[in-house]
Amino acid sequence: MRTETSPVVRLSEYRPTEYAIDNVDLDIRLVPEASSVKARLSLSRRDGTAEGTPLILDGDGLALKGLLLNGMGVADDACTVTPDRLTIHAPPADPFVLEIATALNPSANKALMGLYRSNGVYTTQCEAEGFRRITYFSDRPDVLSVYTTRIEARKSEAPILLGNGNPVLAGDIAGTDRHFALWHDPHPKPSYLFAVVGGDLDAVHDTFTTASGRVVKLAIYCEHGKKDRCAYAMDALKRSMRWDEERFGREYDLDVFNIVAVSDFNMGAMENKGLNVFNDKYVLVDPQTGTDQDYAHVEAVIAHEYFHNWTGNRITCRDWFQLCLKEGLTVFRDQEFSADQRSRPVKRIADVAALRQHQFPEDAGPLAHPVRPETYREINNFYTATVYEKGAEVCRMLQTILGEEGFRDGLDLYFRRHDGDAATIEDFLACFADSSGADLRQFALWYEQAGTPIVSVRHDFDADRQTLTMTFQQSVPETPDGKAKKPMHIPLRFGLVGPDGQDLRYGHVSGGRVEKGVIHLTDAAATFTFSGLTARPVPSLLRGFSAPVRLEDNLSIDDRFFLVSHDPDPFSRWEAAQQIALTMLQDATAKLRQGERPTFDPRFAEALGRLADNDGLDPAFRALALTLPGETEVAQAIGDDVDPDAIHAARRALLTETGSAIATLVGEAVDRNAPPATFRPEAEDAGRRALRHAAWALSLAADKAAAGRIAEFYEQAETLTDRVAALRLLVHYRSGEAERALANFYDRYRDNPLVLDKWFAIQATAPGAQTLERVEALTAHPAFSMATPNRVYALIRSFAAANPTGFNRADGAGYRFLTGVIATLDKDNPSVAARLATGFGSFAMLEERRRTAAQAALKALGASANLSRDVADIVERTLGGEVSNA
Ligand code: BES
Ligand code: ZN
Repeated sequence: MRTETSPVVRLSEYRPTEYAIDNVDLDIRLVPEASSVKARLSLSRRDGTAEGTPLILDGDGLALKGLLLNGMGVADDACTVTPDRLTIHAPPADPFVLEIATALNPSANKALMGLYRSNGVYTTQCEAEGFRRITYFSDRPDVLSVYTTRIEARKSEAPILLGNGNPVLAGDIAGTDRHFALWHDPHPKPSYLFAVVGGDLDAVHDTFTTASGRVVKLAIYCEHGKKDRCAYAMDALKRSMRWDEERFGREYDLDVFNIVAVSDFNMGAMENKGLNVFNDKYVLVDPQTGTDQDYAHVEAVIAHEYFHNWTGNRITCRDWFQLCLKEGLTVFRDQEFSADQRSRPVKRIADVAALRQHQFPEDAGPLAHPVRPETYREINNFYTATVYEKGAEVCRMLQTILGEEGFRDGLDLYFRRHDGDAATIEDFLACFADSSGADLRQFALWYEQAGTPIVSVRHDFDADRQTLTMTFQQSVPETPDGKAKKPMHIPLRFGLVGPDGQDLRYGHVSGGRVEKGVIHLTDAAATFTFSGLTARPVPSLLRGFSAPVRLEDNLSIDDRFFLVSHDPDPFSRWEAAQQIALTMLQDATAKLRQGERPTFDPRFAEALGRLADNDGLDPAFRALALTLPGETEVAQAIGDDVDPDAIHAARRALLTETGSAIATLVGEAVDRNAPPATFRPEAEDAGRRALRHAAWALSLAADKAAAGRIAEFYEQAETLTDRVAALRLLVHYRSGEAERALANFYDRYRDNPLVLDKWFAIQATAPGAQTLERVEALTAHPAFSMATPNRVYALIRSFAAANPTGFNRADGAGYRFLTGVIATLDKDNPSVAARLATGFGSFAMLEERRRTAAQAALKALGASANLSRDVADIVERTLGGEVSNA
C-alpha cells in the first residue's frame, strides 16, 4: 500500500511557515480543457527565518507554465519543480514577488477537488488541500492572505463570474467573445476558503439589512430551470443572518453574499468567504420535489455554512488538527439555530439519535480518534462524526458548565481576542477560562481522549433517613491509540422525579459539586448523597443528553415506565422509552439466536400508546417516541458476536407486537392531528406528517394486508414526504404493491435527479440478503453514474451504511461488492471512495463468519495496486494497522 510512502503528520510537530504570503493576485482564464492560472504572490520572511531559507510551496499534479521572481526568470538550478512541489532554493532576504503560471484541465478533473466543471459550470473546492491543485502555494490554514481575483471566460459559456469578497469591476474584452470580472476580498484568509465560479447560471436575488444598517446583496445561483426551488434557501439564509446577530452578536462583513448550487459535489456544502458553494441537494426544495427532511436539511446547511463566516473564516484554524474548532462549534451553532426555528426537544432528540447512530460506533471502532486528533495521514478522512458531532457536544457541555450567559461571554471574548487569527483549541478554551474564572484543564480532555465514556450509577433510597445515594463510576474504553484514560469532567443534568411527576426539592448534597440542576462528575468514582427527600424519587439523569456518554444505571423497569409517563424533560421521556426498547430488543435478539420466540412486556406498547394518544404533546415528539432504536444501535448495545439478521427479526417482532396493540389508537390520534391539505414546510405540519407515517409503519407491521391502504396513500399523496414514506414502507416490507409503485415513482421523477436519488436509496435500504442483487442491477441502470457523488451515496453508501442485513449478508458478497466499487471509484474520486470505505468501521463486532469475510475483502482491497492515500489510510486503520498485502 502507498501508506508506506505517505508520511504521518503530527500535531506535536507544528511549526509556522518560514514565509508569509500577504497578498495573492490571481488571474484565471476559464477554458473547458485548457484553463490557465497566473498567481502573483507577495512573500516575506517571517521573524526568525534566516536569510536564504528555501521557500517550499505545495502543489498537487500541477503543470508549471511560467515562473518569475521579482519580475525576472528563475534559473534552472535556483529552483526545483515537480507536479507536487515548487522549491526556490535561496529566495531574496527582502519581501519579494513570485509569479507562477499553471495550466489546468477542469473538464478532466473527476476528483472534484481544485477547479472542476460540473454540468458545464466551473467551480472550485479547496478545503482541505485543493488549492494546491490550482497553483503552487503554502496550502495550509495558518497562511492568511488578501486575495484579488480576476476571472475571464467566454461570455456565452460563463456569463456569470463569481469570486470571494466584493465585486470591483467587470467588462467585455474588446475584440473578443470573452469578458472578465474582478473580485477583491479584504479579509485575510487561508487558501482553503478561496473559490471561483463561472457558468451560465440563473439566480434569485434579495437583500439583507444588518443590525448596524448596512445593506447586503444576497444571491443564490443555480442551473437554469431550477430557480423556483431556491426560495426556501433564501429565506433560511436571511433567518440565519438575523439569528446570528441576535443570539451571538455576529454581523455579516461584506457587501455581497453569494451561494452557488452545483450538481456534482463531494460534500454537502462549503463556506468559501462570501461565496458558499453547495451541493444542490441542500439548496433546491419546493413542495413538489422536497420532503420535510429535505427542508430541514436545507435550513440547517445554509445556516451552518453562513455561521462559518465567523466561526471558521474570521477566526480560522491554525492547523487541520484544530478542525473541530470551526466544525464542532459551527455544528453546535446550527443545531441551536434549528432548535430555535423549530422545536427544541424534537431537534435535540434527532441530534442525539444521529450521534448514537454515527458517532458512537465510530468512537467504539478501529477508526476512533479524539475530537482533536494528534496524527493523520490524510486530513480528508478526518471530517468525521467525531470531529463534527462530538465536537458540537463538547461545545454544548461547555455551555452547560458555564451557563448560557457564561458561554456567551467566553465566545464574545474569543471573537474579540482572535478575530483575524488562525487559532487553536487552547486559544478557544482560554477565552472561556479567562472570562469565567473556571479551570478547564480537566475539561480539555474531551478534545484529547477518544472513546465514549461509560458512566455507571447505582441509586439507593433510604426511606428512614430520607436520603438518596448515587454512586458513580466513569471509565473510557480502550481505543486504537492504546492510551491510558483519565477521568473526565462530565456534566449530568438531572432531576429527582417525585410520585406526582414533579421534580422533588432536596436539602443538603454531599459528595461533590451539584449546581443548578447539574451534577459535576470529575473523579473516577464518586458518591453523592441527597438529603431531605420526603418521598422516594425516580432519578432522571442525563437530561437533554447533557454529555456524550453511555449511561448504565440500575433503574427498575417500573422506574423507567414511570419516567416515560412523567419525566418533565421531554428528552428523558423519549430516552426512557428507548432504553426499555433497547433492553427488550437485546433480549429478543438473544432468544431468536437460540431458536426461541421472543416475548415483550405489554406495558411498552401501552406506554407508547398513551404518548401517541396525548394531544398535549407535539406530534413530532410523538412520532419520535414511536420510532424504535435502529438496528445499528441495537448492534452497538450488544457489542460483539453481532448477528444483524437476528437483530432485524427482533426489531420487526417488536414492531409487530406494538403495532398490533396500538396501531388503531395511533391512527385515531393521526386523524385528530391531520396536517392541512396544502403543503407548508413548517415544523408543526412536518410533525403531523411524521406521526402519520409512524402510524402507517405500525399498521403495516401489525398486518401485511395494510399494504393495500398504503399503496392508496402512495397514489393519493399530496406531498413528496407522504409519497416517499409510503413507497419506503411498500418496498421495505416487500409488499406485492412495491414494484408498481417503484415504476410509477420512476416515471414521475425521472427528470429530477435529487428525487430520483430517493428512489435509489429506498431500494438500497430494503432489508434482506436479496437486496444486494437489486443494488448490483441498479449500478447498471441508465440513470446510475459513478461520476455523480449524490448518486453513489444514494445507492452505494445507503446500502453499506443503512442496510445492516443487506450489506452484512452472511456469505460476505455485500463486502466484496463494496470493495469492488471502492477500487473502481478510487481511480477517479478518492475522497468519495474513502467515504464508502468507512462502511467497514464496525466489522470487528460481527459474528465470526461475517467478520472473517469482511476482513478478507478489506485485505484484498488493501493489496490492490495504486490505492489512493485516502482509501489506503481508511483500510489500514480499519484493519488495525495490520500489514495487508495478503
Ligand atoms: N467545511 C465543510 C465542507 C468540507 C468538508 C470541505 C470536508 C472539505 C472537506 C462544511 O462547512 C461542512 O461542514 N459541510 C457539511 C455539512 C454541514 C451542515 C455539517 C458537509 O459537507 O457534509
Ligand atoms: Zn462546516
